[in-house]
Amino acid sequence: MKAYHLKLSKKDLKGVKTALIPGDPERVEKIALLSGEKNYRIISENREFRSAICNVSGVPVLITSTGIGCPAVSIVVEELANLGIKNFIRVGTSGAIQPGIEPGDLIISTAAVRLDGTSRHYAPLSYPAVASFDIVSDLVKSAQRMKVKFHTGITATSDTFYPGQERYDTYSGHVIRDFRGSLEELKKLNVLNFEMESSALFVITQVFGLKSGTICGVIVNRLNSEKPDDSLIQRVEVQSGRIALDVASNLK
Ligand code: URA
Repeated sequence: MKAYHLKLSKKDLKGVKTALIPGDPERVEKIALLSGEKNYRIISENREFRSAICNVSGVPVLITSTGIGCPAVSIVVEELANLGIKNFIRVGTSGAIQPGIEPGDLIISTAAVRLDGTSRHYAPLSYPAVASFDIVSDLVKSAQRMKVKFHTGITATSDTFYPGQERYDTYSGHVIRDFRGSLEELKKLNVLNFEMESSALFVITQVFGLKSGTICGVIVNRLNSEKPDDSLIQRVEVQSGRIALDVASNLK
């Protein structure tokens, strides 16, 4: 039987234990290509969910896009967990909120501030959104080997790109009281960056007894600019994709 949204079956994923989960469907093939041309197959496509299987040093690795946001991440984790996937690595992009983090750097999240609603459907807010120690450690070692500039620390996951990340170019121009001043406060609390998926990923996988981690390329620093540069996005896509594939090839 095929999974409701992902349109994948156990037969499609025989022996695969690890999934890389970018948000953007276009990034599925881009990451798969890093494992070598003709080394991957697109195995399903439905709505924002595109899946490919590639082979890294003899280990099959699934790459499935989640689309944007925590509700879609919960669908992907639920359906892939039911099909036998044990490890999830989010490969994404992000906006930094600390002065020492530049566009082009990578961030490996150790935990996430739960500004989303989805994770509350799995555990109360007192439950921490933490990445799996093993996966964080493997991502760090791989990033060190590849000599890329990276940071580790806490990420804020928001359900919205505009008000929840305190962007005043929301259509109404109005950010509700809950979020006014939130960027400055999170910065003071040493939170590194904003993105839209990790808190749900971490809570759901911890609740299920599975493993997860997140590596994101920084495409803007919110303290300086809101305009990402295309060549820089391409660079962080390649670096984070290579690191995630390397880690996936060693996970059991
Ligand atoms: N993704 C986000 O959620 N926020 C940013 O600022 C950049 C990417």
